[in-house]
Amino acid sequence: MKYGYFDDQNREYVITQPDTPLPWINYLGCQAYFGIISNTAGGYSFYRDARLRRLTRYRYNNAPFDLGGRYIYLRDDTSGEFWSPSWQPTRHQLKNYSCRHGMGYSTIASDYSGIEASTRYFVPLDENLEIWQLTVTNHRQSAADLSIFSAIEFCLWDAQDDSTNFQRNFSIGEVEVEDGVIYHKTEYRERRDHYAFFACSEELAGFDTQRDSFLGPYRGWDSPAAVASGQSRNSVAHGWAPVGSHHVKLSLKPGESRQIVFVLGYQENPREQKFDPPDSQIVNKKRAQRVLSRFLVPAQADAAFAKLRDYWNELLGLCQVDTPDVHTNRMVNIWNAYQCMATFNMSRSASFYESGIGRGLGFRDSNQDLLGFVHMVPERARERILDLAATQLPSGGAYHQYQPLTKRGNNDIGGGFNDDPHWLIIGVGAYLKETGDWNILDEAVPYDNAPGSEKPLYEHLQRSFSYTLDRLGPHGLPLIGRADWNDCLNLNCFSDTPGQSFQTTTNKDGKVAESIFIAGLFVLAGCELAEIAQHRGVDREASGYLSEVGKMNKTIMQYGWDGEWFLRAYDDFGRKVGSKENAEGRIFIETQGFCTLAGVGLEECYARQALESTRKHLATKHGIVLQQPAYSKYYLELGEISSYPPGYKENAGIFCHNNPWVIIGETRVGNGDAAHDYYTRINPSAREEISDLHRCEPYVYAQMIAGRDAPTHGEAKNSWLTGTAAWNYYAITQWILGIRTSYDGLVIAPVIPKSWPGFHATRKFRGVIYNISVERAGAGNQVSLEVDGAAVAGNLVPVPIHGAKVVNVKATLR
Ligand code: GLC
Ligand code: GLC
Repeated sequence: MKYGYFDDQNREYVITQPDTPLPWINYLGCQAYFGIISNTAGGYSFYRDARLRRLTRYRYNNAPFDLGGRYIYLRDDTSGEFWSPSWQPTRHQLKNYSCRHGMGYSTIASDYSGIEASTRYFVPLDENLEIWQLTVTNHRQSAADLSIFSAIEFCLWDAQDDSTNFQRNFSIGEVEVEDGVIYHKTEYRERRDHYAFFACSEELAGFDTQRDSFLGPYRGWDSPAAVASGQSRNSVAHGWAPVGSHHVKLSLKPGESRQIVFVLGYQENPREQKFDPPDSQIVNKKRAQRVLSRFLVPAQADAAFAKLRDYWNELLGLCQVDTPDVHTNRMVNIWNAYQCMATFNMSRSASFYESGIGRGLGFRDSNQDLLGFVHMVPERARERILDLAATQLPSGGAYHQYQPLTKRGNNDIGGGFNDDPHWLIIGVGAYLKETGDWNILDEAVPYDNAPGSEKPLYEHLQRSFSYTLDRLGPHGLPLIGRADWNDCLNLNCFSDTPGQSFQTTTNKDGKVAESIFIAGLFVLAGCELAEIAQHRGVDREASGYLSEVGKMNKTIMQYGWDGEWFLRAYDDFGRKVGSKENAEGRIFIETQGFCTLAGVGLEECYARQALESTRKHLATKHGIVLQQPAYSKYYLELGEISSYPPGYKENAGIFCHNNPWVIIGETRVGNGDAAHDYYTRINPSAREEISDLHRCEPYVYAQMIAGRDAPTHGEAKNSWLTGTAAWNYYAITQWILGIRTSYDGLVIAPVIPKSWPGFHATRKFRGVIYNISVERAGAGNQVSLEVDGAAVAGNLVPVPIHGAKVVNVKATLR
């Protein structure tokens, strides 16, 4: 069953039924001001940091789900009836409901009792504000006298404190209302230099800023007293819960249509200009007023929207493909790229599943996110790399997370995840291959943000690599530390105390537990680093890296191979994890995927065998599960992984992030059919028809789909913020379609299904547009290339030397 449809022409997903299985969200903003918005206008906004600068309140895990949002109420002033055109919070039976989630905007529209209302929400480029453009049309035969109420609830900035510290917070809320604009200024009197403003383009019949006055005692957002009675209270919040609500009266003739603009924004003032007059306590509003005078005008709002559209057309235009598969096209051309922007911006901080207060930017996560983002805005990728590297520790290890507002490593979580440093090499490698910007390696970057500790970025990479060499275990494999990619495989934790976090308990500094996953990652990162070293002309160093990689390869084959697949790890007692010797958790996906993608055991056919075992033991029609058999009980020596009920999350769920590793592995053994088949199993667009089972948005990847051991096999959870986005984008574009960035140019090496006659693609790379057409002339993956009509040996398209801006590439597969 479906709840809507894809409108690929407009790059929108159109939801046609408001009661989707879960709130289906979109993101507003892609630079500094952000919001999440659901298909019923639920969600919240923040500036830069979802925890520390939250503008509006949202109630996570509420019943019903998804309360708190950007609400508009319409009221028929003749009958007294009122409703929400976005369905929530009043939940009336609407006609022609639709929510169009597009690139950086959402438009929610419906009809009720002959009144059509459509609201477009978006954040203009380069501005710290959001615009709601409401158009109301009277389709009745007679005139309509209407009241319109807007409604948001302000968050007192620090979302964590806001939802816990009521003894203080019930007394600190402050607002000002001037010329109909509502200014939220809680804590402005002392240490804050910022405020929020909420304005409306129309003359007001009234306003409210105190939640109690607006809602009335014992009433909820589904029936605010002010709306029910058709009259705002003109309340000014003192303490309790500041809200923002405008009341506009509107008379519409039959057929008449009117547009009303609301603007919600964030503003900072320099300290010395906080107050106006300076010796008062009144907020200096000049900056906000300047912005408002522009955006409250419908034509200006339209122009800002057109700019946003152009921006996305250009970004998505950087890589467009035309293949025989609609789901591939749609994801590559629109949604997967779009999701990569969201993961780049949010890391794992703010979604319907990530509350915005728990996590900052992950070192491992953000580096991987670059794989799908770097081609879009390389300058921002560059900045991110330098920020990440600045949280690296002198040991080469890294803080696991940092807060985006401070850019400092998060001490509560600390470091010791022994895979972390290698992701920096992977991230930098992706950036260099995309841009050829070798200068980045000479940027001076501190360790742990300590002034005076600056060293070239290149040295950070060297330390990342040696971090592992300094931490080898009894078999010569990398020690796992607190965890590797799988946060939930906690081999040094032994947690038996309720409430302890598996990831922040003081793990023992284990000298036994080893990770074969990190070994595979080390091989991949080591090869990247060797290539980077070669390009820097330090060949001796490069061969040093390669010789360590060679040793690790041998060690993996000696101690990390279980006969039919790669082992996962050795635990703190030196016992195998992910082996036929185990009763549960005998085979894990991570090492099958990552070792094969890194090319471990490729020549000896071990890779092929590992992939066959994956197919046999782990593949389901909804994707490849993380391990089998699922853990049926808690294993103290394995940690969080065995805390989940079978089939969920890391305990044998389909953890979509690692499926593309197997997909890439399949391309490395030349199996395009298998690669694309796995790709399709978790492709959200291809799962649209089973939306009632899948339940999450059909336009973006979810972190997890319940595995075969779960009663809800096939049900997705935790959509949007997952490494799945970048990895799938990378797998389909660079490995299946095979348009692959390399240090020397673009490589064309498709490994596509046998049934495909070919495909076309345009890819902008280092300023040049490549028009690529691939034709199948035989069943294999052998490529012959013609570049601008001339045959070229091998599969590398060299960067044009004569300043050509367009290059035509024809690849024939045999
Ligand atoms: C989550 C984390 C990621 C981790 C994965 C597996 O997606 O964000 O860092 O690798 O879970 O545990
Ligand atoms: C939990 C989750 C895991 C995630 C981690 C992040 O352990 O199960 O998926 O990576 O939290 O801290």
